[in-house]
Amino acid sequence: MNYLTDTDAEKLFSEAKAASENTYSPYSHFPVGAAVLTGDGTIVRGTNVENASYGLTICAERTALGHAVSIGKTDIRAIAVYCRTNAAAPCGACRQFILEFGNDIVVIFMHGEELVQRTIEELMPFAFTKTILAQASEVVDQDHNL
Ligand code: THU
Repeated sequence: MNYLTDTDAEKLFSEAKAASENTYSPYSHFPVGAAVLTGDGTIVRGTNVENASYGLTICAERTALGHAVSIGKTDIRAIAVYCRTNAAAPCGACRQFILEFGNDIVVIFMHGEELVQRTIEELMPFAFTKTILAQASEVVDQDHNL
């Protein structure tokens, strides 16, 4: 299985918790932190960033992933998410965003007293992915009507 050791999962989760200290959440007052572990062992943090136009809010997971990509790291091994209610499984939009970087990325979050690990594929079955787009473009190549 792809899951991290308990020690590594706890370490990444504590990075996510630290990231939440930089939250910008003046509207929800709901700090969230995320920490991405890349293939080379780098840990990249992110927090939620809200906006007066509420719908523009960026979740912590997407901030962290954008941060990782921005420093040239797209090989994503795992992502941990923290919020103080201990129930911060990524929202649907963030699941889609995580899946962009691989089916077997491990997502780590608290569920009650338990630090849960699941692959993004387990959290997002039957997802829309770039593979589907690639198949569609093959169809377009074969049939120029689309
Ligand atoms: N939030 C995240 O950062 N990640 C999630 O997966 C769910 C929600 C943030 C967005 C908003 O700033 C606050 O939590 C309340 O929805």
